[in-house]
Amino acid sequence: MDTTRKIQMNVNGTSYSDEIDVRTTLVDFLRVNCGLTGTHVGCEHGVCGACTILWNGNAVRSCIMLAVQADGSEISTVEGLAPGSELHPIQQAFMEEHGLQCGFCTPGFMMSIYEMISRNPDPSDEEIKDVLGGQICRCTGYQTIFKAVRSAIDKMAAANKSAAQG
Ligand code: FES
Ligand code: FES
Repeated sequence: MDTTRKIQMNVNGTSYSDEIDVRTTLVDFLRVNCGLTGTHVGCEHGVCGACTILWNGNAVRSCIMLAVQADGSEISTVEGLAPGSELHPIQQAFMEEHGLQCGFCTPGFMMSIYEMISRNPDPSDEEIKDVLGGQICRCTGYQTIFKAVRSAIDKMAAANKSAAQG
């Protein structure tokens, strides 16, 4: 039985297509077939959040999703946060607030936070903690990540305000 299938998806605005085994996970497709290794693989059980990406704008764990399920989708990964040479405000805030140490969990945190701010630019502390609670970091103790989120929210609000003022 032929278990291969040709799929196509847009990742960070670029079209990728390949013939894959239907059992290939989305994270493996992104890392191996697309060469986008910014998305990390930790538990491979949907628990740690290291593999979080955006699928049609929704944060999902790409280790428990099959690549064929994302056929024809729009995907955003951490590589797409800052397409130019300037850091995205979330990345800048993580750097300034020491929101990372080893960095293994960081791409997943950033994509979850990006989705949260995209949905609600002014989240409460509880909403932020709820999102952070779904991601596992073994290094930072979360305080600096929380500070980085607050800083990123301020930076993005300031950037939006100045864009609106022209
Ligand atoms: S690697 Fe996907 S949730 Fe841990
Ligand atoms: S910075 Fe090391 S696991 Fe989060």
